[in-house]
Amino acid sequence: MEWWKTATIYQIYPRSFQDSNGDGIGDLNGIKSRLYYLKDLGVDCLWLSPFYKSPMKDFGYDVADYCSVDPMFGSLKDFDGLLGEAHKLGLKLVVDLVPNHTSDQHQWFKESRSSRDNPKRDWYVWRDPKPDGSPPNNWMAYFGGPSWTLDAKTGQYYLHQFLPEQPDLNWRNPEVREAIYEAMRFWLRKGVDGFRIDVIWLLVEDGKFRDEPPNPNWKEGEVDRFRHLHPYQEDQPETREIVQEMRAVLEEFEGNRVMVGEIYLPYDQLMPYYGTLERPGCHLPFNFHLMFRGMSNWTAENLRGIVEEYETNLPAFATPNWVLGNHDQHRLATRIGEAQARVAATLLFTLRGSPTWYYGDEIGMTDGPIPPEKVQDPAALRQKGSAGEHGLDPGRDPERTPMQWTPHAYAGFSTREPWLPVNPNYLERNVEAQDANSESMLTLVRTLLVVRKESKALLEGDYQTYKAPDGVFAYLRGGEVLVALNFSPEAKAMNLPQGEILLSSFLDRYGAVKDRLELRPNEAVILQL
Ligand code: NOJ
Repeated sequence: MEWWKTATIYQIYPRSFQDSNGDGIGDLNGIKSRLYYLKDLGVDCLWLSPFYKSPMKDFGYDVADYCSVDPMFGSLKDFDGLLGEAHKLGLKLVVDLVPNHTSDQHQWFKESRSSRDNPKRDWYVWRDPKPDGSPPNNWMAYFGGPSWTLDAKTGQYYLHQFLPEQPDLNWRNPEVREAIYEAMRFWLRKGVDGFRIDVIWLLVEDGKFRDEPPNPNWKEGEVDRFRHLHPYQEDQPETREIVQEMRAVLEEFEGNRVMVGEIYLPYDQLMPYYGTLERPGCHLPFNFHLMFRGMSNWTAENLRGIVEEYETNLPAFATPNWVLGNHDQHRLATRIGEAQARVAATLLFTLRGSPTWYYGDEIGMTDGPIPPEKVQDPAALRQKGSAGEHGLDPGRDPERTPMQWTPHAYAGFSTREPWLPVNPNYLERNVEAQDANSESMLTLVRTLLVVRKESKALLEGDYQTYKAPDGVFAYLRGGEVLVALNFSPEAKAMNLPQGEILLSSFLDRYGAVKDRLELRPNEAVILQL
């Protein structure tokens, strides 16, 4: 079976994982120095958020040169060193690709904006103003304000679905496609195991640039982007073809390189991103439904519904995948609480397919408090109701605070004050402390990954819902491993034939059970039947 079909993917936000040169910002050599930790944790594949040359307006998601390393993170040589070491340890390494937009400091955009007849003019999306000088249509950007910015010199607006400093590439232009495919080949030739592709469902926009209709559910205070529904800025049919073209670039290379797509869509719109058997698309179009519908109503009944719906809708050839956190969403332990975070980890690592884990969640890191004057996230600084206006909402910074390694200065992340404050709970909550504790969250994640790896049923078996009392979600994998998750703060009991406990999320009981399983409040159990 191809490695990515069961691989556990671990997301590293390079700025925040480990600093090796004392500038307060994480870097590639820092990551390299922690590879043994990751190997020991039991994950299979690392995904690195962008480390390319960038003015860092959106912390690397504004790329100024696709085939480079920003000096802040190291050099290409450092990257080769990291990749080589990771491979030696049997870890795969996936890098981020940001094809929807570049930085406004990218050479391509500098040329494009230099004049209307520059050969690269059409590499970006330029439109004339309306007769009154206003933007070409009503499209709004994710980080606030219109999706259009006027370039005074050439008298046209350019499109940007995020910051004005992140102009959208024109994916209808074949030269743009080829240029990005060449950048992909650059990293594939180096030996990377694939890409996580940023906002892949946003690559193409409506060719007629029609106004978007109002969103009847938009509420005062919500971000501007959500004022409208997005039939014209998102998920266009052409995008799905491009995804298949990108996949073909990966297929030029040996070694089962993987394509993971960032896609925030309902299941009916998500599934086409797998492509077809003949013309495949993403290997793993990210399934974010646990983070949204799941965490907004964290109950056994809701979760069971989400899993069943996904299982039913997946194309026969498709590999499922599940995600509990990333650098854009508040921390797992903050959203559902520490007790349920253990249940969530058991769920993630026992569902079918490839799970993705966010750095630090294995020690139950919580959202870090960010004082208003320390807010860095451009999304927060620009949007209404944000730190910029009220000094309240720190946007995505809380989930990006430095990894907590030790109870010593700056949590062992750096020798200098880090770019974002370390969460003060690092004194008790850190890798060193949890390493020594046989019942910690860290030990739970390690143990889960061992149990998972040792069970063919968990890795490859089918999924079947199992009858359980209210408040409990249970399922069978491969007909022989039963997972029972107690979402409630009350004890629950369920009937079952005889079984052997492989793991309790409290890490304090093993052994045989017969006829009846008593679940303690917030307990998750894996049983071999
Ligand atoms: C999605 C990324 O996950 C997010 O961090 C970034 O700000 C936007 N894409 C823009 O690239």
